[in-house]
Amino acid sequence: MRPSDKANHSAVGVDVGTSRVCLAQRQGDTFQYETQLNAFVTVPYSSITENVLKKESVPHTVSGAEIIVHGNESGRFADLLNIETRRTMDKGLLNPAEPSSLDMLGKIVESLVEPTEEKRKLYFTVPAAPLGSEDNLTYHEATLRQIFSDLGYQVKSINEGLAVIYSELESSNYTGIGISCGGGLCNICVAYLSVPVLSFSIPKAGDYIDSSAATITGERANRVRIAKEHSFHFNGFFADQLEQVLTVYYDEMIQSLVQGIKQAFASSRNLPKSSRPLPIVLSGGTALPDGFRDRFEKILLEAEIPISTTEIRLAADPVHASAKGALIAALAEG
Ligand SMILES: Nc1ncnc2c1ncn2[C@@H]1O[C@H](COP(=O)(O)OP(=O)(O)O)[C@@H](O)[C@H]1O
Ligand SMILES: [Mg+2]
Repeated sequence: MRPSDKANHSAVGVDVGTSRVCLAQRQGDTFQYETQLNAFVTVPYSSITENVLKKESVPHTVSGAEIIVHGNESGRFADLLNIETRRTMDKGLLNPAEPSSLDMLGKIVESLVEPTEEKRKLYFTVPAAPLGSEDNLTYHEATLRQIFSDLGYQVKSINEGLAVIYSELESSNYTGIGISCGGGLCNICVAYLSVPVLSFSIPKAGDYIDSSAATITGERANRVRIAKEHSFHFNGFFADQLEQVLTVYYDEMIQSLVQGIKQAFASSRNLPKSSRPLPIVLSGGTALPDGFRDRFEKILLEAEIPISTTEIRLAADPVHASAKGALIAALAEG
């Protein structure tokens, strides 16, 4: 192993999202990612079930007469059993309505992040405060810091939108707007030469689309999510009712994102006064459907926000951009 390989291997980035937890590591010149759904379900205990889960390497925990299946497989189990998944987080933060949130987030993190005895550096993402509200991050951030410190890491947090900028905007010297459209939130950060000057979140994102569409179609939100991830795209042609309903709520979500940007720009005093046009990068799972970028651009132009853009583009790897940015921040610290 070359010395630089060892150094690279020593840092990790973790994107702790409402919907998914993603680990980024560097191996030589490439970035590697591993992801788990940030959700769980309980199934009745039997030794056969336990053995099969072990055999298939499905992350799980035995708890009395139940087995808790956490991570990726929980979504499929919930779909088959026609129940909802339980969620450790809601709108970017630990879910106060879920008594097991702390335990389960710890388990999901441990299924991805291995313990270290070398005090490796770890950066994890945190959301920005909702537009117009006070920062309410203290408990969430301290809890995650503890989970990662207990695994032996030297831990720091990074704003999620800034992580997108670190991942995608090296070419503009980290000047521009990074947007992550996730499950619980859209996170937006404006940075000037790598310094974050404005960041905020909007509480409408993928989960909002799923739960709103579910109330119309009468299906479970988890099932809507699976269908949406499988086949939704913007093309003005509706194969079925779900597609039409998803388009309606996607549009509403993009509207609220754009109106949030408009409001933030109108009320912020600390934005760079230069008229230098800014690049906008879109990332996160909710930005994946074909046509999302075009739809966002159209709605942004219609909103007549006084910013000029050099480009509006999708991140190279939208679902991994935040984790990669967190890793880049950790690596840069040396
Ligand atoms: N292919 C896809 N098409 C549409 N939505 C998707 C797709 N893949 C993931 N999503 C949605 O993206 C959201 C999760 O995005 P992610 O960036 O992982 O979020 P978070 O930061 O909240 O963990 C969820 O609402 C999920 O349903
Ligand atoms: Mg995210």
